Amino acid sequence: MLKVLGLTVLLSFSGVVMATSVADSHTEMAGCESCHKDGDPSADMTYENETCVSCHGSLKELDGEMHLQHDGIITCSDCHVVHEEVSANDSCASCH
Ligand code: HEC
Ligand code: HEC
Ligand code: HEC
Ligand code: HEC
Repeated sequence: MLKVLGLTVLLSFSGVVMATSVADSHTEMAGCESCHKDGDPSADMTYENETCVSCHGSLKELDGEMHLQHDGIITCSDCHVVHEEVSANDSCASCH
């Protein structure tokens, strides 16, 4: 039963990736606490951005030119507006 339940959760997660925000997909995986300390947003999002790095790696370590090009310049949430259903691909124009 548990095995079946685990599989269902996994499939529904991968199936909704494109139709859901990053925050929703992660909340489904591990709750608000996966990014917010005790579930509460911080004032400057420093804590939140450190959680991204602790699971995914730093800008230097992530795949893709767009990550390397911004190493030491901006943070994850500058491009990944995680509570909205937008692609990080649409973030570029807001700065360039
Ligand atoms: C993937 C990590 C992640 C998860 C999971 C997540 N958040 Fe967030 N949250 C962020 C980031 C990063 C921001 C900064 C704005 C943005 O990028 O959308 C934010 C912003 C917020 C804000 C606005 C804070 C402000 O000062 O503007 C609230 C409120 C919030 N989150 C609540 C929640 C709640 C409640 C949950 C669980 C249902 C949740 N978040 C899950 C990363 C996350
Ligand atoms: C607790 C670990 C953890 C944290 C914290 C975390 N992620 Fe993730 N993230 C994952 C896992 C696991 C996946 C799904 C597998 C994958 O695509 O690597 C994922 C998937 C993603 C994806 C692919 C699209 C999606 O919604 O699944 C993006 C983009 C992403 N994360 C960005 C972020 C950002 C930005 C932050 C910080 C605000 C963050 N993650 C914080 C573990 C985490
Ligand atoms: C310069 C803007 C930018 C910054 C900063 C940035 N990303 Fe990205 N990221 C992107 C773009 C663009 C994509 C490709 C999105 C797509 O294909 O939908 C991407 C893709 C990803 C993916 C793979 C998503 C998938 O669908 O498999 C992960 C995971 C991710 N980023 C995590 C992070 C983390 C963690 C940080 C901070 C350490 C970060 N990103 C900072 C722009 C950025
Ligand atoms: C929050 C603001 C911000 C966002 C969003 C952003 N960038 Fe940047 N980007 C910068 C800054 C600041 C620099 C470093 C200064 C410069 O070269 O303009 C930079 C540098 C670059 C460079 C290197 C330029 C050079 O001369 O070496 C490229 C290429 C680039 N960005 C492309 C992108 C793309 C593609 C996206 C969207 C996926 C994006 N940026 C999103 C702020 C941003």
